Amino acid sequence: MSAYISKSVAAMEAYTPGEQPQDSEIVKLNTNENPYPPSPRVAEALRSFNAERLRLYPEPRNLAIRSRLAEIHGCTPEQVFVGNGSDEVLALATRAFVENDGTIGYFEPSYSLYPVLADIRGVPRRPVELGEDFAWRMPEGFRASLFLLTCPNAPTGIQYSRPTLQAFCRAFDGVVVIDEAYADFAADSFMDLAFAPGHANTLVMRTLSKSFSLAGLRLGYAVGPAPLIGAMQKIKDSYNLDMLSQSVALAALSDLAHMRTNVMRIQATRARLSDALRKRGWKVLPSETNFLFASPPGGDAKAVFDALRARKIFVRYFPGPRTGAYLRITIGTDAQTQALLHAI
Ligand SMILES: Cc1ncc(COP(=O)(O)O)c(C=O)c1O
Repeated sequence: MSAYISKSVAAMEAYTPGEQPQDSEIVKLNTNENPYPPSPRVAEALRSFNAERLRLYPEPRNLAIRSRLAEIHGCTPEQVFVGNGSDEVLALATRAFVENDGTIGYFEPSYSLYPVLADIRGVPRRPVELGEDFAWRMPEGFRASLFLLTCPNAPTGIQYSRPTLQAFCRAFDGVVVIDEAYADFAADSFMDLAFAPGHANTLVMRTLSKSFSLAGLRLGYAVGPAPLIGAMQKIKDSYNLDMLSQSVALAALSDLAHMRTNVMRIQATRARLSDALRKRGWKVLPSETNFLFASPPGGDAKAVFDALRARKIFVRYFPGPRTGAYLRITIGTDAQTQALLHAI
């Protein structure tokens, strides 16, 4: 290891993103992407984009998108922060809301980037083990500077209850980021907590990567109290969203009907796949997302993962005592679902 690298970076493990195979024959159900294309307005925005404009820097405050998101969520642009994917929003939260002697909390299991973000920030992790069957469990008097809270959770797909979440945010003495990456696929959203009285510490985060079919674009955002949003705005890269992303995202956000239609198709396939797996003896956790967390009969998920992979069907496997008996399966098209069931 080179002596030039800081000790904390040398010691840390990098985040492992899901595989992005280039073979188009692969049935790709491993990274919770949307199987349907984005709105036709996205393709139109790309076609009509004037490349000559790329001479100039993009608008640095991302005002057009923040205004559109403010309109969608019924708030002001000062209550919206837009980032290069929600991963950037999360990273900025660890810088804006955590002192050098602070800590970062999150549930275990939840989004596996969170512990890596604590390592990058150079502060201790404060993982909280979820209860039986991955139900909410918060130790009395738990403290951290920042709590990153996937809701509905990933990789479990489980939604927490409104009173539980509300009470936690109210009592917690640091900032809570409710990561609603999958909320469009759920029956309920907690976006309103970002504006509720008594929630000066609560941010709600969304992404265009899942429900809007734009994982390749990289656009995520947080909504919440203007002082918290202002702090993130202060420390972001001056031009964190390139000009193309800004115009494509605006086009996608002008067509909510397209997103909702795709979400309904995915919810219907989710119900069908859950039933079909249960009929084959699988344990399937209730999902409010675009994936299932399911355990095959006998619980040897790794063997099923390998066997599916040999048939060019990619799903996600998280080894470990809590998650090792399960596979996380992204909801695909009906044809992909048929291929999966046939292979199983
Ligand atoms: C819970 C959760 N948050 C955030 C993200 C990342 O979203 P983005 O593509 O906006 O960076 C993911 C992606 O899988 C996720 O599962």
